[in-house]
Amino acid sequence: MTRAFVLHPDMKSDRRRAPELALAEAVSLAAALPDLDVVGAEVVRLPKAQAGMLFGSGKIAELKGRFADLDVALALVDGQVSPIQQRNLEKEWGVKLLDRTGLILEIFGDRARTREGVLQVELAALTYQRSRLVRAWTHLERQRGRSGFGFVGGPGETQMEADRRAIDDEVVKIRRQLEKVVKTRELHRAARRKVPFPIVALVGYTNAGKSTLFNRMTGADVLAKDMLFATLDPTMRGVTLPTGRKVILSDTVGFISDLPTQLVAAFRATLEEVLEADLILHVRDIAHPETEEQAADVADILASLGVDEGVPLIEVWNKIDLLSPETRAALTVQDARTPGIQAVSALTGEGLPGLFASITEALDEERIEEALTLPFTAGRARAWLHDQGIVLAEADSDAGHMIRVRWTRRQKEAFARL
Ligand code: GTP
Repeated sequence: MTRAFVLHPDMKSDRRRAPELALAEAVSLAAALPDLDVVGAEVVRLPKAQAGMLFGSGKIAELKGRFADLDVALALVDGQVSPIQQRNLEKEWGVKLLDRTGLILEIFGDRARTREGVLQVELAALTYQRSRLVRAWTHLERQRGRSGFGFVGGPGETQMEADRRAIDDEVVKIRRQLEKVVKTRELHRAARRKVPFPIVALVGYTNAGKSTLFNRMTGADVLAKDMLFATLDPTMRGVTLPTGRKVILSDTVGFISDLPTQLVAAFRATLEEVLEADLILHVRDIAHPETEEQAADVADILASLGVDEGVPLIEVWNKIDLLSPETRAALTVQDARTPGIQAVSALTGEGLPGLFASITEALDEERIEEALTLPFTAGRARAWLHDQGIVLAEADSDAGHMIRVRWTRRQKEAFARL
């Protein structure tokens, strides 16, 4: 076991979320790696980033003492650390250092299951490694002597050019393999399209409970531990719902905020399945203090993949067993009023029958296209239509907003009641 200490640098300038929650997320991410033992964690306030060392000298000295006391071998810094900063801090502290990209790469590497997933992660790891080949990188050994990609250590200076070339060659090779894999995937897809069952894709923020729900719904034995990214590659399974409806359920990798750019391709490769879905279940941890922010992140990514329009979506409000009775009662009322929301507990099974019913209904429901004209004053009604994701086109005229929608009878009725 490697003893690790997690640091979340809190820079006021780019604070998007509560730093303590960000730290907690980083700790969960670290805990998802099988051979790490997180022995401590803290938020480090940074008035401004120090160019060479990231942290201020007082803080660095304090942490050095702490690391020695706790016998820390790896510092995980939940943010961007430049190669120079990494080198300086590693030297000063006498530990290895992984930044956020490095950490997530490790996790992706640990979790990738399909051929494409593995290749995409290797590619991202190589790109990352190449960017870390800096001058005077002599004090680090090459491998950390553990499984994974070993991209933390850098080669010595003399080796730098040779290594850079070796990495480039490797990248070319992997890209070629990827092309082949993608072609095979197309074949698989084409084959699957012939399956006469609709595909229901589970998406959601990391740790929202997708795998647990998937388990519940299928009785299948997919990974469901308190681990982030238990599912880098989609797992698919055909099931007959208690309603008699046959569907293919597909589990996907969890979303996280601030995904490092180098990892976006690897992440997307695992999500393209969602584009093929007939129905999306957006699983939310409704008991999480930042559930709204998480949901917004997921919505953004789905929209950037191009799945915002047309594909029906059910929001599954998971983990209601963790809520206070009052919050829960309020939720249940909201759930009952709002089509497209289903409150459940994947753990206890509560709400599952309702979810099965909504899935069946969503898949069976007929959708019709209609043209509406809303007065300019009907802002709330217009926002509602957009929230439901049923607007196909919109233009303004003298008469008001002219909106083309594709909706179900239930949505139409709910709209009339607004
Ligand atoms: P990633 O693979 O990281 O994307 O996570 P996931 O969304 O698949 O989450 P997973 O199913 O692994 O669950 C994460 C944690 O939440 C586990 O510890 C589960 O036991 C717990 N969990 C899931 N559903 C519920 C629920 O309804 N209630 C409670 N109390 N805990 C739950």
